[in-house]
Amino acid sequence: MDAKDDQRLLASLLDTIHVKRGNAEFCSRLGVRFSALQKLFFLLYGQRNDTLYWYTELIRLLHKSYLQRPTELRNIDRRRERHPEWLLSEHLVSYMLYVDRFAGDLVKLQSKIPYFKELGVNLIHLMPLLRCPQRDNDGGYAVSNYREVEPRLGTMQDIRSLASMLRREKMFLQLDLVVNHTSDQHEWARRAREGEKEYQDMYFIYDDRTIPECFEESLPEVFPLTAPGNFTYVPQMGKWAMTVFHNYQWDLNYTNPRVFLEMLKNLFFLANQGADVLRLDAVPYLWKRLGTHSQNQQEAHWICQLFHACTRVVCPGVSLVAEAVVEPKEVVRYFGEGENKGAECDMTYHVLLMVLLWDALATGENAVFLRCLQSLPDVPSHATWLTYLRCHDDIGLGYDDEDLRSLGIDPSLHRRYMVDFYSGRYPGSFASGKIFMENPRTGDARISGTAASLTGLEKALTTGVTEDVDRAIQRLLLLYGLAMSFGGVPIIYAGDEVGYCNDYASLDEEAEKADNRWIHRPRIRWDTVERRKVAGTVEERIFRGMRRMIRVRKETGEFSFRARRRFIDTGDSRILCFLRSLERRHTMVLANLSDTFGKVDPLLFHWTGLTGKVVDRLGGRELLPVGNTLIIPPYALYWITRS
Ligand code: GLC
Repeated sequence: MDAKDDQRLLASLLDTIHVKRGNAEFCSRLGVRFSALQKLFFLLYGQRNDTLYWYTELIRLLHKSYLQRPTELRNIDRRRERHPEWLLSEHLVSYMLYVDRFAGDLVKLQSKIPYFKELGVNLIHLMPLLRCPQRDNDGGYAVSNYREVEPRLGTMQDIRSLASMLRREKMFLQLDLVVNHTSDQHEWARRAREGEKEYQDMYFIYDDRTIPECFEESLPEVFPLTAPGNFTYVPQMGKWAMTVFHNYQWDLNYTNPRVFLEMLKNLFFLANQGADVLRLDAVPYLWKRLGTHSQNQQEAHWICQLFHACTRVVCPGVSLVAEAVVEPKEVVRYFGEGENKGAECDMTYHVLLMVLLWDALATGENAVFLRCLQSLPDVPSHATWLTYLRCHDDIGLGYDDEDLRSLGIDPSLHRRYMVDFYSGRYPGSFASGKIFMENPRTGDARISGTAASLTGLEKALTTGVTEDVDRAIQRLLLLYGLAMSFGGVPIIYAGDEVGYCNDYASLDEEAEKADNRWIHRPRIRWDTVERRKVAGTVEERIFRGMRRMIRVRKETGEFSFRARRRFIDTGDSRILCFLRSLERRHTMVLANLSDTFGKVDPLLFHWTGLTGKVVDRLGGRELLPVGNTLIIPPYALYWITRS
């Protein structure tokens, strides 16, 4: 079809669904995206004989959802259409939390807004809060109703109130949309179980093991210990359902256009409650293909692009995060590539940076960090990374093996070292984490633990050695400081800002003991958080450090994602150094990754344009070399500008 055909089809579709000609904003947005929408939809569903029916339904849904969009949110859409760079700002700092563990419920959460302001965080990510079964809910990632809030947390009205309170404070709300699967208690799954073919078609349901067995030949296991295999026998149906994650999370079948449309409705529904950012869960898994590992398939990207194009028509102020915990080169593809660069997701987790931060701390060296980042392609303008040390999930060691080999490092030995180090098994390790999902067949293993436990605070507090406590705090602030200055939107996991250690009590609880990720999703006790006000306590020292970093980040235009980053070789492999530059302003980030004294030649500052006196803006003092050496203490982090 050429452009004229496109226009004709658009005009006839608008007539069919009775769009008023006066609806200029909708028509113009749709006009801009129409070719892209059509191309994507037909790429995905063009083989069917009812494609045009579903395509008309899609356009009808866009129109209806546009009309339902509240006026206040429409005004925000218009502002963000003019300023899509809002996401790149140095002012954004994300904070992720489970509502019940943090505040109890959504109403009580409102009273924590002053706390967010005190710390300086402003993009508040509420972990899954939609209705889900009491047990078997994977931390809320097994949704049984996308239109209701889990009753013990509150109601949709509470979300709307919270969203508008946050807006008044110039803060933003992020919610999860679990797009890849539903709970087996979702109505679609229930009706599928009861034998309704229409609903069975929304999932991957098989009469016997023939196709499942073909899939199993190449499908990896996400939770090999607790949910081995990728299919579950459902006695009531007498059939097998595809369940890539847990056996109660049924994978949705996106080859069926109805699935896409239903999930898009859910997306608009959440957007219209006032979410500024939606995190699309587990997007690499959206399309399955026999004979492959069924991750990152081209169609999964088309689906994300279609979600994106549709939001640009209905709610362009809403940004999409791709949760893609896959190999580094695959992660960047979720920003869109080639002619689709920038037309997929607006943010993705910098999974590689996360691993490299922990790598740098364990090895005390910058080599792996620098090498692995070198081969990573650029991010399109208007899109950005989420930079983080850890989230609610485990830390997987997703390096690119080739990068490690090019440094003469054996990838599996190196991973083993990292797992041993962070689980505390390695002699002399400061960390106390837990091993997550060690797979005896493949040797793979991941790590659980809070940032404080992994940086040594847990052990240090047990032994009570003051210097160890000091070091642990320095390490924690060092890693967070790198995440805040690297480029992207940094995320703080609730509790890290006051040094919460692992919560082992969760391992005794029936619903949580099989999944040690719960140790790093601590329940916040506000009496301990209050200790941030008592000078010299661990809580106060960490909170003060974090707050200062956030404040300085917000004052530093060079920390916006628009600014460039250049790595600098200081000649000392213990030092990680990079320069962030915007227009003619520069800030140098200088970090000692090791527990020994590092040194740099102060001429470095002159070479990089930082002439005259230089100050560390974090410590708020001038950096004074001794002769021609500047000594960098263990785990020190400086953000250096001209005085
Ligand atoms: C995502 C979530 C994780 C969950 C999985 C299955 O990866 O972050 O917590 O277990 O999806 O929904």
